[in-house]
Amino acid sequence: MPEIVWTEDMLVHIEKIDHQHQKLLSILNDLNEAMLQGKDKEMLSDIIAHLADYTFYHFMTEEKYFEEYEYPESDSHKFEHQYFAEEVTRFRNQFDQGRRDLSEDIILFLKGWVFNHVRKIDQKYSPFLNARGVT
Ligand SMILES: [Fe+2]
Ligand SMILES: [Fe+2]
Repeated sequence: MPEIVWTEDMLVHIEKIDHQHQKLLSILNDLNEAMLQGKDKEMLSDIIAHLADYTFYHFMTEEKYFEEYEYPESDSHKFEHQYFAEEVTRFRNQFDQGRRDLSEDIILFLKGWVFNHVRKIDQKYSPFLNARGVT
């Protein structure tokens, strides 16, 4: 599976968040690469943990902006975050308990969700926050 390449339409024009999105993609690409190289379970588990932690940290960053600037679509956006956070946590637990393997399907799901979320849902707060001086 090819790596996800950063594209201009992923930019939200908020420096801190654009940096976090790039970092998220790079962790996903690391996970993909590690799977392709047949790295051991411990190594994969570390990357999955890193992905989960970084994802939560990133969602918190966005949600703090929503609260601070009273973003009107905050609830539905947070609902999307909640869904993904639960999926990632469930997968992480199952993987660590040896009940599930890392597969191409899971990587596709993780990448697909992040890619679509950033390009469609995150794009919606971009003009709202930019107009309030968050850049
Ligand atoms: Fe985001
Ligand atoms: Fe988001």
